[in-house]
Amino acid sequence: MSRKTHLITTALFYANGPLHLGHMLEMIQADIHARNLRRLGHRVIFISGDDQHGTPIMLQAEKQKMTPRAMIDVIYQLHRADIQDFHISYDHYLGTDHESTRSVLSVIYEKIKPLCIQKDIQQAYDDQKQMFLPDRYLKGKCPKCKAPDQYGDNCEACGCTYTINDLIEPYSILTKQPPSQRSSKHLFFDLAKLKDVINSWQSQAKMPPNVKNKLKEWLDDLQPWDITRDGPYFGFEIPDRPGQYFYVWLDAPIGYIGILGDYLKSDPFLIWDHENTHITHFIGKDIINFHGLFWPAVLHAAGIRQPDALNVHGFVKIDGQKMSKSRGTFITARQFLDQIPAEYLRYYFASKLTDATEDIDLSLADFKNKVNGELIGKIINLGNRLMGILTKHFDGQLLEVDRQDPLWVSGESRQVIIQEYWLSGNYQAAMREIIAWVNEANQYVDQMAPWKLIKDQLSIGLAHQVCSLGFHIFFKVMNQLSAVLPNTYQKLTAVLIIDNQGLLGAQTVRNYPRLLERLTDQQVDALVNEVTN
Ligand code: 2FM
Ligand code: ZN
Repeated sequence: MSRKTHLITTALFYANGPLHLGHMLEMIQADIHARNLRRLGHRVIFISGDDQHGTPIMLQAEKQKMTPRAMIDVIYQLHRADIQDFHISYDHYLGTDHESTRSVLSVIYEKIKPLCIQKDIQQAYDDQKQMFLPDRYLKGKCPKCKAPDQYGDNCEACGCTYTINDLIEPYSILTKQPPSQRSSKHLFFDLAKLKDVINSWQSQAKMPPNVKNKLKEWLDDLQPWDITRDGPYFGFEIPDRPGQYFYVWLDAPIGYIGILGDYLKSDPFLIWDHENTHITHFIGKDIINFHGLFWPAVLHAAGIRQPDALNVHGFVKIDGQKMSKSRGTFITARQFLDQIPAEYLRYYFASKLTDATEDIDLSLADFKNKVNGELIGKIINLGNRLMGILTKHFDGQLLEVDRQDPLWVSGESRQVIIQEYWLSGNYQAAMREIIAWVNEANQYVDQMAPWKLIKDQLSIGLAHQVCSLGFHIFFKVMNQLSAVLPNTYQKLTAVLIIDNQGLLGAQTVRNYPRLLERLTDQQVDALVNEVTN
């Protein structure tokens, strides 16, 4: 039997702007999963990329006086730099506007065509701009309270909901002109025909129970899904419908397969369709309909294997507030990196993430306490103080670990529990267990007080043993945290010799590095200033 391959994806990131902390939550969550699996010897392919098509990209490029293609190339480079600096270990990261995705899309299109129906639709049209207007590009007066400048689905002033046709005096947000109506023939993927297929996929796929319930509710109202967009549109042109393009939400998930193909430089289906491949999509709770209804249906219709699991997270809040530019709570990945090391955010998110879809609040005071009080004060400090004594009094000599020692034995069983928490996605519980373990080790060191034992020739040997055992435990703790703090772990292992069981044998440690620094108020203030100014 061949080994399992874990194919892990994060949702493709929309290429109309910089990555922000919401994106980083998803990447960090998936990266920790990928790294933990690799650490335990599993075969992992971790991929993602930029989602590069659609009206918002076309219009954003126009604003910047660039072609869409030139703009997505710039954004791609910016995204890649953020990804690297946050230590996200993708095996491959590519955009969807690439031949590898186009070729998979055309294969899939031919196969799903028999399940599509053609319909005439009426759409708002901007005569000046000569383009069809998606709903979000229309505004008008609220039909109920008459507040001006409301979108076509709900009114921000009175809170009522309505449909686009109810808007009073609608206008195009691009030219402020009233839209005209035009009809065109669109292709709709007939989702309702696959209701049973979607239902049975939903039953067997692994996902949070609340997500499963929500998806099941939607099964009773499956509408035909419009996969066509009229030009001008930045996307892949439909081969047998000149002037029309595939809707970005059809080609985005197909990008997962296209990007895999580009990574393998061979037929992606050799891996994607293989019975020993386990596919997990990491996504946010706002896009479960695309991944839990349309995507499994499209795959089934095309005769392609469906994903095994959806890992769904909530949104990032800043000090209890939704991230928003106008409120000054919108933090880009780069703004964060300019002031604060990436691993501090990785540590914080890891300590908050569970297998549920709750929002994660980045409270800045809590963040600082966690970093300084817990990560530096308890974890890093354990290694520092032990290695300080070992260096000063024992020439850096580390004794072999006493495997019978109750503290070591207790650590062995803790590791089994921590491992389970990591793999089940309950990072918060893994981190709690790690802290309990570190507390136990710190208490042991405090009780034994090796700094006192070294003062007496009779007890100096015991001091050496205490510091060695404590350091062996510290190393194991850091090994359990290596998926969260990969850079720090690398710094640590650069000065240590690790045997093939993953243990430190007796050795002399030299040039022990400063692993991490305390977070200062200035750093946090600088971040807040950068965001609010
Ligand atoms: O929600 C988004 O930002 C989309 N760019 C996600 C695409 S996920 C996948 F299907 F590619
Ligand atoms: Zn209103």
